[in-house]
Amino acid sequence: TPKKTWSQRFESALHPAIAAFNASISFDIELLEYDLLGSEAHAKMLAKTGIITTAEAEQLTQGLAQIRQEYREGQFLPTIDDEDVHFAVEHRLIELVGDVGKKLHTARSRNDQVGTDIRLYLRAQIDTIREQLRVFQQALLDQAERHVDTVIPGYTHLQRAQPLSLAHHLLAYVEMAQRDWERLGDIRHRVNVSPLGCGALAGTPFPIDRAYSAELLRFEGVYRNSLDGVSDRDFAIEFTAAASLINVHLSRLAEEVILWASAEFGFVTLTDTCSTGSSIMPQKKNPDVPELVRGKTGRVFGHLQSLLVMMKGLPMAYNKDLQEDKEPLFDTVKTVQGCLQAMTILLQEGLEFQTDRLAQTVTTDFSNATDVADYLAAKGVPFREAYNLVGKVVRQCLASQKLLKDLSLEEWQALHPAFESDIYEAIAPQQVVAARNSYGGTGFEQVRMALSEAKKRLLVA
Ligand code: ARG
Repeated sequence: TPKKTWSQRFESALHPAIAAFNASISFDIELLEYDLLGSEAHAKMLAKTGIITTAEAEQLTQGLAQIRQEYREGQFLPTIDDEDVHFAVEHRLIELVGDVGKKLHTARSRNDQVGTDIRLYLRAQIDTIREQLRVFQQALLDQAERHVDTVIPGYTHLQRAQPLSLAHHLLAYVEMAQRDWERLGDIRHRVNVSPLGCGALAGTPFPIDRAYSAELLRFEGVYRNSLDGVSDRDFAIEFTAAASLINVHLSRLAEEVILWASAEFGFVTLTDTCSTGSSIMPQKKNPDVPELVRGKTGRVFGHLQSLLVMMKGLPMAYNKDLQEDKEPLFDTVKTVQGCLQAMTILLQEGLEFQTDRLAQTVTTDFSNATDVADYLAAKGVPFREAYNLVGKVVRQCLASQKLLKDLSLEEWQALHPAFESDIYEAIAPQQVVAARNSYGGTGFEQVRMALSEAKKRLLVA
């Protein structure tokens, strides 16, 4: 077995079980491409500052490029003895370019190295997730565009409240995704700071140029304090918190789709490409996709908790506990990306809104009761008085199995002389929705405006 990089200081080899326990290579191989980028920038910086020669730096970067190629071709196969991705690269580099490979780690520690890798990784993943959020928003907008005039029951307490434009309902999720997109953009600035050159914890006696390596890696700045640079994981926690919120939003939509697809609601049917069958019940068509999104949301919350607890007791500066940041972070990224993709496909081709059923639903309930009260209030009856009167009417209607629209004009006028024949128009679902034309409301005019505003917002990169 190859000797550990640090084996000279030790008399005997690591217990094999401890070696396996200690190693992170099985998962931090995910950072390989970012480790190579960081090492290339470090080598160039060493040459620029005269710490190594330009020729040496070239040998190093060529060796690193070769490792990249081997990795992409599936030929780079580190073992447990390599311990982690950083040693794996260094070992292979020395095999490839010889003794000059031993110069790469001058003025660097694995502590600032892993910090660099993980930030480069996360920056790239954030960019992907932000693009995915845009596609998700677009899918919502496409559905919204088709359903401005589709009226759907609106709920509070999961009880019928007031009818809505379906587009208005979908646009609420566009807004949530917009904040998620902005939040990630904000976090990206704090991820995008270079710890490279912080060394193990205290900096380095070599005349390094941290701004230069940061610039090569397109970081926006450098950590001002070396201890903070090697031990900060705020950025990962913030990201996981933002990811948790993305999943909260996806999970809420998922829950609605699950309800809507039930026979009790019957608001959507699921297409064959996005639903699954049962092993025993031949009639079943199950909403597995939104259920999984709802279920996976718990994992993301768990990862946030893991990272918070991992950090809370750490003294300065690097501690091996920090190796435990990777699996939660990687799994958060994969889970959020997977959920976003699945929900987007579901919106694009998985749902068919049952417009007939929706139209029938909103004409057979009391979600226009507020509008009767509003009708009287607009004619000068104090709102609370009107509200009390309509409460009584609803109770009578329920007892006689009638809807508000079934009352005759005589019955209305017996209740209050202010009622005229336009009451029927005022309580028709389309009119009930159209009337709520206040800014941000569900009135069709407002919804059309909101839709075109949202479309414009999507063009902002
Ligand atoms: N595999 C380690 C990690 O993930 C790399 C840094 C190790 N540094 C150290 N001083 N042991 O955190």
